[in-house]
Amino acid sequence: MTQTNKRILSGITPSGSSLHIGNYFGAVKPQLELQNTAETYYFMADLHALTTIHDKETLEKNITGVVLDYIALGLDPAKSVFFRQSDVPAHSQLMVVLGNYVMYGQMQRMHAFKDKLQKDANEESINMGLFNYPILMAADILLYKPYGVPVGEDQRQHIELTRDIAENFNKAYQTDVFPLPEPLISKEVGKVVGTDGQRKMSKSLGNTIGIFEDEAVIRKQIMSSFTDPNRKKATDPGTVEGNPVFIYHELLNDNASEVEELKTRYRAGKVGDVEVKEKLFQAHQRYFASARAKRKELESNLEVARDILADGALRAGKLATETLEEVYRTIGIRNQLNNK
Ligand code: ADP
Ligand code: TRP
Repeated sequence: MTQTNKRILSGITPSGSSLHIGNYFGAVKPQLELQNTAETYYFMADLHALTTIHDKETLEKNITGVVLDYIALGLDPAKSVFFRQSDVPAHSQLMVVLGNYVMYGQMQRMHAFKDKLQKDANEESINMGLFNYPILMAADILLYKPYGVPVGEDQRQHIELTRDIAENFNKAYQTDVFPLPEPLISKEVGKVVGTDGQRKMSKSLGNTIGIFEDEAVIRKQIMSSFTDPNRKKATDPGTVEGNPVFIYHELLNDNASEVEELKTRYRAGKVGDVEVKEKLFQAHQRYFASARAKRKELESNLEVARDILADGALRAGKLATETLEEVYRTIGIRNQLNNK
């Protein structure tokens, strides 16, 4: 993922009030690393959150929470353009156009829609915002003509749809207005397992380890994590591979020799789960210490975040408006009556 001088874009939906370590290692960390080698655009997908959040206070709280999380984790306004989706109206405007270059049948095959249909088994309970979500996402992406879109594995299908829409559009007008974006998905951490040891870590599944919650909350999340289900007592030899607690150690623990030593003792049945987890908790606290401190500072002075977003909206808006104009000219919405 080291592309020089290439534009990168990604977004995050504030569907919860704080990020978890799956979000961080799967998406945020690779995104922030790209700040040093590419031209990066990152945004808070507040309009996307409306698919699930219809409570004003919750939405306000989530947006602020995730914005502060990002900045605390290392979003650098000197290196990245950071903005809110709703501050750049071109996202919504391009979405209206793009819906015409994708077929209903393909939209019905989108995972977010299909999963929801399976869970609730009822089309009456799926709002059109959710159904259309991938079209808004395609607009988010194509406005900036990025080379790559760093996301977690679960977003791959949306990037593929975006490519299809771009291709359909380009073909219809014999143009190359939209370059096809590449999904940038890490093989190792594109899908961090949840504390249930079964499914991907996800806030809706309640199997997360947070980043900024109170120590007591984080400790509890770590202590209740699954380990090796076949190991009944600390003296039984345990399996390290695929064991969530060791996966998290690999991600978080800066003390590699401690991790190796714990693995050896675990395999030999010479360490209890509690000690492994306690060391994981300590590693978590070390890993995120400076981000946690920075977040506290940002909370007490929201002006910093406000300024970053205002500046980001201006810079993103400029680029997005150019693309929207290019699209309007290409399709005939700009003609001699409204084209100066
Ligand atoms: P959640 O599933 O908790 O609701 P989101 O869907 O809001 O998370 O995901 C935000 C970003 O984090 C996306 O780019 C997504 O691909 C990534 N992501 C979410 N969960 C994980 C995970 N368990 N492992 C890796 N990446 C993840
Ligand atoms: N759908 C993404 C998520 O749930 C967020 C998102 C919205 C996004 N628009 C985007 C990601 C455009 C990358 C590019 O996390």
